[in-house]
Amino acid sequence: MVPFFVGRQRELARLKDALVRARAGKGGAVLVSGEAGIGKTSLAEELAKAAAWMEMPAVWGPAIEAAGAPPFWPWTQALRRLGDAGRQAEVPAFGESDTARFRFFEAVGAALRRAAEPHGLLIVLDDLHWADAGSLRLLQVMTSELPGSRVLLLGTYRPPSGGEGGPLAEYLPALLRERAVSRVALEGLDAADTESLLLQLVGPDRDANLVRRVREHSDGNPLYLVEVAASMQADALRGRLTMSLVDITRKRFAGASEAALDVLRIAAVVGREFDVNLLSAITGLEVGKVLDSLDEAISLGLVQQLDLVTYRFAHGLLREVLYEDLPATERANRHMRVAAAIETLSDGKPEALIYGWAH
Ligand SMILES: Nc1ncnc2c1ncn2[C@@H]1O[C@H](COP(=O)(O)OP(=O)(O)OP(=O)(O)O)[C@@H](O)[C@H]1O
Ligand SMILES: [Mg+2]
Repeated sequence: MVPFFVGRQRELARLKDALVRARAGKGGAVLVSGEAGIGKTSLAEELAKAAAWMEMPAVWGPAIEAAGAPPFWPWTQALRRLGDAGRQAEVPAFGESDTARFRFFEAVGAALRRAAEPHGLLIVLDDLHWADAGSLRLLQVMTSELPGSRVLLLGTYRPPSGGEGGPLAEYLPALLRERAVSRVALEGLDAADTESLLLQLVGPDRDANLVRRVREHSDGNPLYLVEVAASMQADALRGRLTMSLVDITRKRFAGASEAALDVLRIAAVVGREFDVNLLSAITGLEVGKVLDSLDEAISLGLVQQLDLVTYRFAHGLLREVLYEDLPATERANRHMRVAAAIETLSDGKPEALIYGWAH
């Protein structure tokens, strides 16, 4: 959650307008694009707040960066959160026929239309750059049905780059051509919003010269500002202003002990959210030891506690940096350990556990 949301007035106005139109029976889809940390999820959260004001239900279906995530993962999550209406759309088993798939798509359409009566419905499919091809195909099919419904579909994604776009790169051109789809491309915050966010993050009595330099280097990327502000608090900012967001994020782990890093590297393989008992099972460490490491990570601002046993990385890039920095063989090895622990803990029903963590 964003403690103080700044700017984005124009984008929010467009999205709220689409929300009001959807509620009145003229549904549609908006795709919000932008680089990591630019504020896509935060913008979607602001829109979800607006929907709540209008008593319009909102459900989230984030895609996840995990090899082996089940097909249609973002959709199945959104459908689950629709309750009864969503339960009637059954995902076809892997390898089933085109007919089964077609029926599933039809059932999803019907479930959405039902759930959208009478107050409308907002569906947020976050992080579509990680979505599987089936989910994107379903999104494309749904967009053609939206105009006659009370559904507003909001998708977010990082633009594919350098030929490494995965399924999204393939589907995006067609999605953007759909008549019901409009696009919001998020750029950096403007100078005034950047300064206002920065001052709220670091407090008003900071060296004005430093604030100006941070503002210039940030290109208005809010996550960069959050990260730099965290470094400023640790008084370890020197030399970091010219670094990329990824490098700054990487440096955030510099103060952590080896023991904490070991636990966090396992957590990074599990996902943005993770369970203490699961980490203990994977690492073979006592729960108390895992908690010591997590307390340390919390004090460094790397991790937040959600409930008694659930924790999460303070933002997605912290997890990604740890994950990407693992050598391929170690990543594979950790994936196997995670899978084995899930299998044991969930008594042969791993999906139950995965559903438990997601979002
Ligand atoms: N408009 C805003 N006002 C204040 N803070 C913001 C704003 N937008 C983003 N932030 C801050 O920046 C952080 C990153 O934003 P967010 O998670 O929305 O980025 P994102 O585009 O979804 O990134 P990713 O591609 O990694 O999912 C947020 O946690 C929040 O602290
Ligand atoms: Mg996001």
